Amino acid sequence: MELRRILLATSNPKKAEEMKRLLESYSFQVEIPKEEIEVQEGGSSFLENAFIKAQAYYEKYRMPTLADDSGLVVYALGGYPGVFSSRFYEHEYGGKEEVKTSKDEANIRKLLRLMEGVKDRRAKFVAFLVLSLGDAGYWSMGECEGIILEEPKGSEGFGYDPIFQPEGMQKSMAQLKPEEKDAISHRGKAIRNLVKIIAGGRGYE
Ligand code: IMP
Repeated sequence: MELRRILLATSNPKKAEEMKRLLESYSFQVEIPKEEIEVQEGGSSFLENAFIKAQAYYEKYRMPTLADDSGLVVYALGGYPGVFSSRFYEHEYGGKEEVKTSKDEANIRKLLRLMEGVKDRRAKFVAFLVLSLGDAGYWSMGECEGIILEEPKGSEGFGYDPIFQPEGMQKSMAQLKPEEKDAISHRGKAIRNLVKIIAGGRGYE
């Protein structure tokens, strides 16, 4: 199967924007699905969820399909929000939070509440990618270590970016320009890993 055109199995426009930018820098032609598919991300790991999404979109569109499942892992919270990152505000762990302006804002409010007075602020962003070719494919992952800030800073990016400060930086992820985020982010690393894995022919079957 020709591996120049890749469909993105995501309904998150911000995530799609990052993946498109990263893939286009390797001359892939990126397609956005015409219709979103309701996918039940019932898996217990990022890899399983990425596989479920990639497979669901592949079944419908029958072309090489790339899914990203990602999230924020906070050490002091035993790994939460983890695979529950996107809807953490409504998860039972730590109590629910009302959505006032956006889900991202509610997620951030909840996380900051749970981190009040917590000294160990270490966390990491994790991204797992699955590129499905149907019966076979490729997968990769990337991580970005950092700390949870006391309050949000910046307006770039999405999700938990305003409260995450990457290791070795004095800025939040939401204060970085897109290309600066790509250079250090979990998603940037995962895509660069994927490109190497494809080139080496080391897929799954
Ligand atoms: P998914 O669509 O289930 O993979 O949801 C991932 C969730 O993790 C997003 O909705 C965000 O809350 C969070 N997340 C993943 N990647 C990032 C990122 O690059 N910046 C900030 N938050 C992220």
